[in-house]
Amino acid sequence: MMTEDLTATIETRERLESASRLSALGEMAGGIAHEINNPLAVITGFCERVRDRISKGLATLEDIDRDMTRVLSGVERISKIVNSMRSLAREPQNKEIRPMSLNKVLDEIRDLCWERFRSHGVAIEFQIDGEHIVLAEPTGLSQILINLLNNAQQAVSTAKEKRISLQVIPKNGDILEIHVKDSGSGVSSKISTRIFEPFFTTKEPGQGTGLGLSLSQAIAIRFGGQIRLLESVPGSGAHFVLKLRTGKM
Ligand SMILES: Nc1ncnc2c1ncn2[C@@H]1O[C@H](COP(=O)(O)OP(=O)(O)O)[C@@H](O)[C@H]1O
Ligand SMILES: [Mg+2]
Repeated sequence: MMTEDLTATIETRERLESASRLSALGEMAGGIAHEINNPLAVITGFCERVRDRISKGLATLEDIDRDMTRVLSGVERISKIVNSMRSLAREPQNKEIRPMSLNKVLDEIRDLCWERFRSHGVAIEFQIDGEHIVLAEPTGLSQILINLLNNAQQAVSTAKEKRISLQVIPKNGDILEIHVKDSGSGVSSKISTRIFEPFFTTKEPGQGTGLGLSLSQAIAIRFGGQIRLLESVPGSGAHFVLKLRTGKM
């Protein structure tokens, strides 16, 4: 009986995790189309220019070489975006918690978010000094960070000043903190104790599922870490801290 209960709990948790992973992707879908459209426009532009020059007999090999280099870097950018999406959407095969590069995950996330944030007029700043190894599993860690950043973006969307920052702060005792701050309306003390509850949301249906923080917290705890909301100063935005254990490769 005990074992069955436990199995059911694990199954439920896995189903919820996968629902939340897909909903984080859904929240990003519009943005991702935008991320891909920009390099596509660049590629189209350079290809048209090359074709035009060739048809007028004006093309030099140097011109073509230069333009094709730009085309290739656009293609590379798209393929990076697609790969990041794929690694997020995929059911993680290996949920093993192991020492992994935090910088690599942050690079991927930056690729997924940068253009979308910029196009929404959001100034986003990543402050990461040095290389960091954390104990985690890459898909789960991306999911936590994307949930925090999606929440931050939704929070600043109606604010006059739209700022988000992500800062990595190593601490003593094999601990590292990732601070995600935004300039939105913050979390009122009335609901601050509830935001980690599953299905708690203050958003319109379709905008939020209320699963982001609860599942992110569950994943963080699985990593031996934790997410906390720092007490908000009235008038300033939300400030979340993800605490992780560091490791060695
Ligand atoms: N950065 C933030 N600024 C303001 N409120 C936030 C922020 N992040 C989370 N919240 C609050 O916590 C609630 C729960 O967040 P979450 O679990 O991600 O679910 P959802 O985003 O689907 O509502 C949100 O509905 C919102 O009220
Ligand atoms: Mg959310």
